[in-house]
Amino acid sequence: MENIVIAIDGYSSCGKSTLAKALAKKLNFIYIDSGAMYRAVTVYFLRHQVALTNDTEVRNALEHIDISFDAKDYNSHVLLNGEDVSEEIRQMHISEQVSPVSALKQVRTAMVKQQQKLGQLKNIVMDGRDIGTTVFPHAQIKLFMTADPKIRAERRYKELLGKGEKVSLEEVFDNLAHRDYLDTTREESPLTRAEDAIILDNTNLTEAEQLNFAVEKVTPFLKMA
Ligand code: DC
Repeated sequence: MENIVIAIDGYSSCGKSTLAKALAKKLNFIYIDSGAMYRAVTVYFLRHQVALTNDTEVRNALEHIDISFDAKDYNSHVLLNGEDVSEEIRQMHISEQVSPVSALKQVRTAMVKQQQKLGQLKNIVMDGRDIGTTVFPHAQIKLFMTADPKIRAERRYKELLGKGEKVSLEEVFDNLAHRDYLDTTREESPLTRAEDAIILDNTNLTEAEQLNFAVEKVTPFLKMA
């Protein structure tokens, strides 16, 4: 029987991972946060001062990077060479550096390969920017999430404050706008909606309403599988 892949793409801080995790829990699928993989690569690159313009340095660094997920708590723990970097990858200095790292062709090739491997194992929900277009163009279900930029910034701001980060709402808004710009205009698989993706604008939706929407879309495929 073919594995089911649910691809969730969309802009930064649209609540993709919240929905993806809830959906995986509900359906008993594996959840994979592809953005966390790019963030973990960024942590490594910053720690080792890898020059993004130097292809050889980038290639060597990628050979020394192993990213895995801890199965507990729906894979929300990301391990970089065995070290749990789940907290670090969400810090503002990583958010500021991740877009240029994720725009590198070598980085994308390595991550996409690993993501495709993960999808062969089990039924999965994977969220990111290019899951429905590049990683799993034949995913049975594709959602494309969007929300008002101000609402997105407020949500992320509250999350960061809750973690004790000292940031302003303006900084968060600017970071999101900048990442949207970089993610949608980069050369290598830019963020774009797959033609067959269902749009989910969650500006005015609760988490429960989003989950209901997604479950409704997925149910026919579960019956077929
Ligand atoms: O979803 P996120 O904000 O954690 O993603 C972090 C960055 O990684 C984001 O700025 C774009 C990039 N990314 C990507 O290029 N492709 C993906 N599939 C997932 C994330």
